[in-house]
Amino acid sequence: MHKHTDAFVDRMKEFGSAPEGIELRKWTDWMAMDASADFTYSREMHQLRDMKSSRFLNQLWLVNFFVFANQVFKRIPILSPLKYPFVRPSVLANFSEILKTNEEALESRIKRRGNVEHLDHFEALLPANAPAPTQKEKKRIDIITGHLVIAGYEPIANQIYSAIIFSLLEPTCLDYLVKEIRMAFRKYDDIQIKDLGSLQYLHASLMETLRITVLQSSGQSRVSPGATVDGHHVPKGVTVSYAFLAFTRESRYFHDAHSYRPQHWLPEGHPLWDPAFRNDATDSFHPFSQGPRPCPGLSLAWQETRLFLAKVLWQFDAEMLPNQRIVFERDFRMFPMWQKPEFWVRFHLVARENILTNSAQS
Ligand code: HEM
Repeated sequence: MHKHTDAFVDRMKEFGSAPEGIELRKWTDWMAMDASADFTYSREMHQLRDMKSSRFLNQLWLVNFFVFANQVFKRIPILSPLKYPFVRPSVLANFSEILKTNEEALESRIKRRGNVEHLDHFEALLPANAPAPTQKEKKRIDIITGHLVIAGYEPIANQIYSAIIFSLLEPTCLDYLVKEIRMAFRKYDDIQIKDLGSLQYLHASLMETLRITVLQSSGQSRVSPGATVDGHHVPKGVTVSYAFLAFTRESRYFHDAHSYRPQHWLPEGHPLWDPAFRNDATDSFHPFSQGPRPCPGLSLAWQETRLFLAKVLWQFDAEMLPNQRIVFERDFRMFPMWQKPEFWVRFHLVARENILTNSAQS
């Protein structure tokens, strides 16, 4: 995790303060996918290094709308053949090449069994001492690793990009966040994952980002086993789902529900706790889901996103370029993955002596 965050920080030292700034969506996409491929099966994608999206990343975004269309047509099976025009010709043209590259990456990982730099998810799928996989097993592992790369990439990219944007759009929130991080660590190398869980404003900022951006447009459909929910009987076999956006934007459940307000998530007793948020339905919000199939990446996600924000905001003063009025409801589009707008920022390296003096004064 440090390796990928540090690579991002190093790149920003080179390019972050240029007058034209950097486009945050692209850079956070590169960082998050490089990290996810590495965590999944020690695959080096080098997008940050090469400053170029891999074909896999490009393709993924090209099929985003098709996957959405597919979900819709599933509900109206008779219209199902109409979904194919939603596949872009360039996707079909490159598809076999992408599959081949992914298969090669898998073969390479199989050959390196017992000889990789760090533990990865693959290790659990095919431990170093397991017998060589059959073709059928390879196919299965190929599909699972593909899922893991995407599952470990998209929400992380979304989360780090959005947390920075929403904080920049609310300068007071950014100020509190930056202060908390910089007061906690004297040196960049002091920033360690184990110490980040106690930073309450960092936690609150990430929770609030999750509340605003809510994953899972599909509403996480589940087939009812036959049950009574909130006084209503839901017969067996009925598909139910959950209206995340309606819940998180409802003023009965969240005070000032449409604004980015990390205060929702601060504990009573925190100096910035505000009684106006006392009745928020925070206990009912489960961005990683719950029950028998919650997100298995929860702990990884917290560690990765906390580390990224802490290191980046410790090292740089973030500045948004002018005239960017991002409005979440207008500018983000939910297909299976959030289609996010471009956002231009500058990252200025912090003059350290000033910080230490300022922190000591405040
Ligand atoms: C902020 C980050 C993340 C959020 C908010 C998040 C949220 C979720 C949610 C809500 C689900 C349940 C989907 C459903 O039941 O329909 C899920 C499933 C899943 N997540 Fe995450 N996730 C995050 C990061 C990660 C990471 C880093 C990984 C690592 C590989 C990961 C791997 C998975 C996998 C494999 C599943 C499917 C589990 C299953 O089908 O049983 N997630 N995630």
